[in-house]
Amino acid sequence: MADYKVALITGGNTGIGKVIALELAKEGHDILLNYVFDEAAALEVKSQVEAIGTRCELLYGDISDFGVVEKMMEDAFKIFGRIDVLVNNAGITRDNLIMRMSEDEFDAVINVNLKGTFNCCKHIARKMLKQKEGKIINIASIVGVMGNVGQVNYSASKAGVIGLTKTLAREFASRGIKVNAIAPGFIKTAMTDKMPEQARTEMIANIPLNRLGEPKDIADLVVFLASEKADYITGQIIGVNGGLYI
Ligand SMILES: NC(=O)c1ccc[n+]([C@@H]2O[C@H](COP(=O)([O-])OP(=O)(O)OC[C@H]3O[C@@H](n4cnc5c(N)ncnc54)[C@H](O)[C@@H]3O)[C@@H](O)[C@H]2O)c1
Repeated sequence: MADYKVALITGGNTGIGKVIALELAKEGHDILLNYVFDEAAALEVKSQVEAIGTRCELLYGDISDFGVVEKMMEDAFKIFGRIDVLVNNAGITRDNLIMRMSEDEFDAVINVNLKGTFNCCKHIARKMLKQKEGKIINIASIVGVMGNVGQVNYSASKAGVIGLTKTLAREFASRGIKVNAIAPGFIKTAMTDKMPEQARTEMIANIPLNRLGEPKDIADLVVFLASEKADYITGQIIGVNGGLYI
């Protein structure tokens, strides 16, 4: 039976990614923590993981850069000799109505959220397939399923991640690699803190469970998908959204 013990989390120094790193560490995973901004935050997560009792190494790199990710994955496999779980968590928003959205705003979001996920899957594939077991968990979004005013770039990127997840699940199934996506609703992080107060209040009123999600709500599902208890689950897009999309 598979025993998944080394996890790489992109954008693991803040928000949801940080909590995913800490929860996987509590389950005994050694952590490879990718970051590109805020090294101090990455170092803080590293010391928190080590306080839990597993190892943590930092991997600096912009996931939207194909060549950078190729080198980063080579380095990553050298550190612990294997990678069992890849969590494609890094993501950005550049919200605007399409009438006002610039080409740069569109490209930036597609390049990080969709191409970054492709880059990491592409460059981990050969070695993970050789291992004949592994889990890839992509953090998509509810808006990749529902759409959202002002997020044509972000919702398209996350819909792309959903398509990528379903395709890779089919391509990798015979090699023992399971690929799933989590589609969070609105989760309390810096990303949602940026919302105007009135928009946030209106949003919560539409959530049947009547609250924003917590990063741990997402991390708990990552822990489950990364475990052998989820070994018969692949190609699924699992909503964690308080019932906002049913
Ligand atoms: N917060 C929400 O409500 C919510 C809802 C649905 C989906 N998500 C998704 O969850 C994931 C985590 O978001 P979060 O809310 O924790 O926000 P966050 O801003 O705290 O985390 C995003 C992380 O990605 C990193 N990042 C950005 N560009 C990068 C790049 N080019 N290379 C490497 N790292 C990069 C950031 O530095 C940051 O650490 C994102 O994919 C986001 O789209 C969030």
